[in-house]
Amino acid sequence: MSACLRLCTAASCRSRGATELLEHCRKALASDQAQLRVKEVGCLGPCSDGPLLAIDPTDRLLSLQEVNGSDLETSLAEALQRGNDATGLKQWQPSGSRELSPDEPFLNLQRRLVLGRCGVVDPESLADALAAGAWQQLPRVLEQNDPPAVIEIVRRSGLRGRGGAGYPTGLKWATVAAMPGSQKVVVCNADEGDPGAFMDRTLMEGDPHTLLEGMAIAAFAVGAQQGFIYVRAEYPLAIERLRTAISAAEQQGWLGRGIGGSGFSFEIELRVGAGAYVCGEETALIHSIEGRRGVPRPRPPYPAEHGVFGLPTLINNVETFGNIPALLELGVEAYGTGTKVFSLTGHVQRSGVLEVPMGTSLRTIVETMGGGAPQGRQIKAVQTGGPSGGCVPASALDSPVDYDSLKALGTIMGSGGMVVLDDTTNMVDIAAFFIAFSREESCGKCIPCRSGTVQLEMLLRKLLERRGQVADLEQLEALCHTVADASLCGLGQSAPKPVLSTLRHFRGDYLALLPAAEVQR
Ligand SMILES: Cc1cc2nc3c(=O)[nH]c(=O)nc-3n(C[C@H](O)[C@H](O)[C@H](O)COP(=O)(O)O)c2cc1C
Ligand code: SF4
Repeated sequence: MSACLRLCTAASCRSRGATELLEHCRKALASDQAQLRVKEVGCLGPCSDGPLLAIDPTDRLLSLQEVNGSDLETSLAEALQRGNDATGLKQWQPSGSRELSPDEPFLNLQRRLVLGRCGVVDPESLADALAAGAWQQLPRVLEQNDPPAVIEIVRRSGLRGRGGAGYPTGLKWATVAAMPGSQKVVVCNADEGDPGAFMDRTLMEGDPHTLLEGMAIAAFAVGAQQGFIYVRAEYPLAIERLRTAISAAEQQGWLGRGIGGSGFSFEIELRVGAGAYVCGEETALIHSIEGRRGVPRPRPPYPAEHGVFGLPTLINNVETFGNIPALLELGVEAYGTGTKVFSLTGHVQRSGVLEVPMGTSLRTIVETMGGGAPQGRQIKAVQTGGPSGGCVPASALDSPVDYDSLKALGTIMGSGGMVVLDDTTNMVDIAAFFIAFSREESCGKCIPCRSGTVQLEMLLRKLLERRGQVADLEQLEALCHTVADASLCGLGQSAPKPVLSTLRHFRGDYLALLPAAEVQR
């Protein structure tokens, strides 16, 4: 491997000065005889240590948090004078930088299948992606020309949708494939509206070709010719990199008409959403793609039967598609139970994006990999699944992270946002935050959600302002069930979850807000 500096310029490292450091690196390398190059890459993982720089081929990872740009430039130029390419970089340690050991749990407990090329390739270079193994599975699939066999692999792998509901992906693909008609659509849901979630953005910014290849394979398997990526406008870098990647893939012949000389044609268009959380709900998303207001409709009919412009439509999440190339490359046995990407944030020492084997325990993620709560505090809970999820108490940290275990605890895995909360947190506050979010994002079409979220928030505020009574707590719980049962779409149906889960696991926080005489009665 030729020597190379990989500097993360994803959103988090960028916010800590990565672009300025990039310029200094480029200046230092301008007259480099060894032709060492610095390349902009997507997320390297431990965002809280950013800006991050990886050095190939020595495999060293440096945190440049305390590094001054000019000092970096000088020391890099000096290192290159000491020895060309890798030799000069072996010992190079700019002042203020810190080396992260590859044995750190945050790094070595990961299994990067979806994010395997993220942080490795330049997301704006198709040549780089190809050299790292992108677009190798689609030609194989086209050559074998057996769409049902592809669906069978996906079904046997047990892959479930990573967008939140966890629907079996193979079953969804088979349903769309079985629909009559010669025109079908594949949609990638890249709306990612959950507070604290940035997994999908990480893949789109860091390695867009894996997503595109996954979508193209899906399209071939179900018989679709048209694809859409529905991405929120708040993700400008992801949008820019997706545009670049789509156009490069078209020029290379991996997207467009007669792909790889076959009879298969598939085009992908980007649709930029205005950032309404409800537009992640699949029927609202379909309306929005069609240019209508993003408001949900009752299901059935399901998108598989009646989707974009009335055509059978396959909708999957970014990470779900991102699994496909790795699954086909490894085969079902080696793929095993697959992985899940999480964005770890909140009261935790090391935050960032990590991909772990499915079923890794919450404790491994938040304590071993994330280092636990900072400043010697105790973890009180971990919020998973965003506004549709709930809070797992510290006593249940040994639970494996998978769809069913989290459901049993009254939350969901959701798309993978994980917010750690320490013992300074009042859980009623957290419940109020998520209800306020759902109230704000409710489209207003049905009354249980439109009015119910307002009333739930009012009750929570009343409690937080210490004006509540025991009867308010009872009303809160009853109203949660009404809103969950009577709302039209997933937003309203799951909005009460953060309240119900905190009532279940942290009732003490609610009772502490009531007058003492009331509680004893
Ligand atoms: C209010 C609401 C918001 C949603 N937001 C997203 C989202 O941002 N991304 C996503 O993939 N799925 C989201 N979903 C789930 C999707 O509707 C759908 O189930 C998913 O895209 C299917 O893909 P999958 O099977 O690959 O998970 C949301 C659902 C609801 C009810
Ligand atoms: S549940 Fe809420 S978001 Fe969904 S349709 Fe009803 S009002 Fe709109």
